[in-house]
Amino acid sequence: MELPFAESWKIKMVEPIVKSTREQREQWLKEAHYNVFQLKAEQVYIDLLTDSGTGAMSDRQWAQMMLGDESYAGATSFFHLKDMIKNLMGFDYVIPTHQGRAAENVLFSFLVKEGHVIPGNAHFDTTKGHIESRHAHAIDVTTDDAKNTQLEVPFKGNVSLEKLEKVLKESPGNVPFMVLTVTNNTVGGQPVSMQNIRETCELCHRYNVPVVMDSARFAENAYFIKMREPGFENMTIKEIVKQMYSYVDAATMSAKKDAIVNIGGFIATSRKEWYEGAKGFCIPFEGYVTYGGLAGRDLNAIAQGLDENTEFDMLHTRIHQVQYLASLLDEYGIPYQRPAGGHAIFVDASQILTQVPKEEFPAQTLTCELYLEAGIRGCEIGYMLADRDPETRENRFGGLDLLRLAIPRRVYTDNHMAVIAAALKNVMDRRETITRGVAIEWEAPLMRHFTVQLRRL
Ligand code: F0G
Repeated sequence: MELPFAESWKIKMVEPIVKSTREQREQWLKEAHYNVFQLKAEQVYIDLLTDSGTGAMSDRQWAQMMLGDESYAGATSFFHLKDMIKNLMGFDYVIPTHQGRAAENVLFSFLVKEGHVIPGNAHFDTTKGHIESRHAHAIDVTTDDAKNTQLEVPFKGNVSLEKLEKVLKESPGNVPFMVLTVTNNTVGGQPVSMQNIRETCELCHRYNVPVVMDSARFAENAYFIKMREPGFENMTIKEIVKQMYSYVDAATMSAKKDAIVNIGGFIATSRKEWYEGAKGFCIPFEGYVTYGGLAGRDLNAIAQGLDENTEFDMLHTRIHQVQYLASLLDEYGIPYQRPAGGHAIFVDASQILTQVPKEEFPAQTLTCELYLEAGIRGCEIGYMLADRDPETRENRFGGLDLLRLAIPRRVYTDNHMAVIAAALKNVMDRRETITRGVAIEWEAPLMRHFTVQLRRL
């Protein structure tokens, strides 16, 4: 008999989680203005708000924490991280930062000027924020495949080369770089193929435009290349990673995802002039260039996390769990962005709460309903997150309206996945009774979803 699948690790430390009653959750959600970001974590049973900084570090990472060198400048921990990045990604220059958006802030402070145009395959919201706050334009060039949640294609995160070339042609001399995000979080944690990475970079370089890889989930992307793209099945994850980075000019990294640490990030590049330019912004914003807002122990933990999470078994365990949740949703007929992504399931709210008009934010409403049902906290990746157009101030209803269930790495078991699926099924079963959504009472001018205050209609 073939042995069944099991995790590639065992558990050494546990943290209790507690259930609540529906009455308690009704009260708490009201107090949180129907915005799950405003809930207290202890009011949550299963927390799927994000896979960012929420992973469980390994015994080896904790051991590295103890070995951290806390020297202000030139710490051995910095060189440990720098060597790891050089080995994995091939870059010579590394600037640590306290997280991914800080890497964006430091690098973009040097590169982005008013009026610039920066194409990308669905820029993450902080990436877009750092572009738009500098009065530059972030243009989405993701393939149209990503818009149809039911279309089953292997690399739905890909760049549309036609859309990209149109932007490059229309803005000569005005595109400081292109952002290539792997995996493409915004459209569902969907991977980008090696072929698309190569062709995107070739196209940009033909127009003298460098490429920055937003690398938050680069290892999960490499896993999908190995599993889905012909020619890569016999390569190791580390070999695939090396090839991915051989095409690009720089990386910004949120280490809180695929380096499985609770805090951290970095910029890495082969361009000396970018390194020299970015350095000047690292020191005032983040700290001296060999620690960038982190402790020496954090740098060590990132290096160790990068090493272990670019091993096949670790990634296979992780993505197997996400796919297990997807298989349960299939059983219950719950629509989501297909196929399941690397770090999350993105439930298609517009196909479930069909009676809630888009002006009343169906995905935000579904997020509330799932919390009320079972204390599970997901995250809206839809019309609320899409914000308003910076010029017209109209809500941007053009994209998908999804509820993201992000799975923290090495934290929950498959039994938790079964609870999540059953809770969603219960919401699905009573969806005919959900006819109204939410209305905005207060919102911030930028990145409103974190702090928005809502009223239930
Ligand atoms: N790029 C991508 C693709 C991301 O998903 C994130 C963060 C960032 C950059 C910014 O990194 O949080 O370390 O500053 N994504 C988290 C999420 C917050 O929930 O998807 P950060």
